Amino acid sequence: MAVFSFLSPFFLAVICVLIIIILQSMKKTDGKKEKGEKTSKAESRPWVDEDLKDSTELLAEDEEKDEWQDSDEENLTHVPFSPRRYSEQEMLKRSKEFYELLNQRRSVRFISDKAIPREVIDNIIRAAGTSPSGAHTEPWTFVVVEDPEVKHKIREIIEEEEEINYRKRMGDKWVNDLKKLKTNWVKEYLDTAPYLILIFKQVYGIRSNNRKKTHYYNEISVSIACGILLAAIQNAGLVTVTTTPLNCGPRLRLLLERPVNEKLLMLLPVGYASKDATVPDLQRKPLEDVMVVV
Ligand SMILES: Cc1cc2nc3c(=O)[nH]c(=O)nc-3n(C[C@H](O)[C@H](O)[C@H](O)COP(=O)(O)O)c2cc1C
Repeated sequence: MAVFSFLSPFFLAVICVLIIIILQSMKKTDGKKEKGEKTSKAESRPWVDEDLKDSTELLAEDEEKDEWQDSDEENLTHVPFSPRRYSEQEMLKRSKEFYELLNQRRSVRFISDKAIPREVIDNIIRAAGTSPSGAHTEPWTFVVVEDPEVKHKIREIIEEEEEINYRKRMGDKWVNDLKKLKTNWVKEYLDTAPYLILIFKQVYGIRSNNRKKTHYYNEISVSIACGILLAAIQNAGLVTVTTTPLNCGPRLRLLLERPVNEKLLMLLPVGYASKDATVPDLQRKPLEDVMVVV
């Protein structure tokens, strides 16, 4: 008995060490497995930059084959193209004026309810639709909301989710970083702006035979379109604020009856700035801080 009572703590320690070694070796194997899975996924998605977490949806092999068979890209004719050229002087003037126009753009969170012509909205969305897109898939849908009731429902959904975001999901650091902008979950502009434009990225397309079509780089493509949209809004003398309503996508998609292949990327309220609008006095980085010439 005396021997047993002396040995038991020793045996206990040995058993514990053995268990730790076994658990660690199991973890390593799992890690290797996971890494292997990730690599094989990356290999089958050659257009995906792992850093960018592209959400281009992988399609079943038969759907891909179907796409190749249907593709009429090979028969696409190539036509002569002579884009307009300017003298160097004119180029300098135009580039400076364009910069000055865009440098006046600010995110405005106080938007008047003054009406604006629908045709202006049509034109700025036409401009956004000129964006380049991966393999010319044009993976965007711009939902324009003008109905006051629908705008209000959108506000209710966003304010409800944003309150949870600010209070629970975003964390102290993010909320603190936003303090200087004086933003919170109350978003009056969702009611007052004459138009809300909700930009959806299509993570895959639907062909005429109901088969799926790969939308390469859909998020980058739609983000470029959003940039052009912002520039077009500025050019029209209107204002907006870029918003990415966190965790609101699925509810807004259902409200607006958009299909499952569409994911909300951005929401832009569009209108005139209200008379008492203010913006944070932010400074932009000078050219030498953002440009590297090699
Ligand atoms: C991807 C992205 C998401 C943003 N999301 C929000 C948002 O949810 N709410 C908001 O009030 N502003 C949002 N902004 C606006 C930024 O706060 C704003 O662009 C930044 O403070 C610089 O100000 P400026 O746009 O006036 O130059 C967002 C901007 C970007 C580019």
